Amino acid sequence: MPLTIQELHPVFAAEATGVKIGSNISPETVEEIEDLMAKYAILVLRDQNCTDDEQVAFAKFFGPRETPFGATTYGKGSENRLPMYLFDASNIGRDGEILPLDNARRQMRLGDRLWHSDSSFNPLPTKWSMLSGRVIPPEGGNTDFADARAGYDALPDAMKVRLEGLVAEHSIWHSRVKGGMPAEMIGEEQLQVLPPVYQPIVRTIPRSARKALMVGAHAGRIPGMPVDGGRKLLEELTDHVTQPEFVYSHIWRQGDLVIWDNRCTLHRATPFDDTKFKRDMRRTTVDEFAPSWAMVG
Ligand code: OGA
Ligand code: MN
Repeated sequence: MPLTIQELHPVFAAEATGVKIGSNISPETVEEIEDLMAKYAILVLRDQNCTDDEQVAFAKFFGPRETPFGATTYGKGSENRLPMYLFDASNIGRDGEILPLDNARRQMRLGDRLWHSDSSFNPLPTKWSMLSGRVIPPEGGNTDFADARAGYDALPDAMKVRLEGLVAEHSIWHSRVKGGMPAEMIGEEQLQVLPPVYQPIVRTIPRSARKALMVGAHAGRIPGMPVDGGRKLLEELTDHVTQPEFVYSHIWRQGDLVIWDNRCTLHRATPFDDTKFKRDMRRTTVDEFAPSWAMVG
């Protein structure tokens, strides 16, 4: 059954009705969602009220699922509360209570308030994220999205030429420090588990053949350029992509599932009173390809 679409913004983002996520999605619906994502880059599915199993099963239709990193990477206290394949973007601990201020997972999440593309610090290209809103605070806590294709299209031609072939260094530690995580929480062990990776600044999305600017908070340096100059250029490009005309701000309703293409959008969490209200958000993330070590055995 074809989905019904309501556009949410002049350049991207749409709300789709007519699908209930889970393990029971037809190949036609998968193709339709792929086409809609190629066009809109952000898809909002309302009233899903999905379970963890449904969310994890749905993600599998669109690519190999990423596994969140555990306590080794993020430090003590950052243990995942959720089953495999679910990233915990909540402010809630294993005891069901709001995380204390000094908790490592809370410190990690501070970086989400900067414009970023999920897992751009991973060697594999990350395809989509799917975030489900289980408990929504009464005010604040929107998620902002920016269209990095529209941002690319609007660049002056000279800048497009300049960026062709340039790569950026992405590291989760660039964004954590920028986001306010104390640098002393990042030890040698963390650096070894997630070393920097290199991604092209301009990339073409296979299904739409559109070019997008791959920047955001994980990108910290441009190899071959002085550190300050590279950082300044990356910040300028991020500011360019996130101008109001390219931004859709999602106001959450309980039960929403929002899908975004990390290859051609940036997003950020916005503040809410996170010492007073619970916000339970759970994310599945898929890659374009499986890593070679996952293809054997
Ligand atoms: C994420 C993220 C934003 C939010 O889960 O990747 O950035 O508003 N979340 O929770
Ligand atoms: Mn994110």
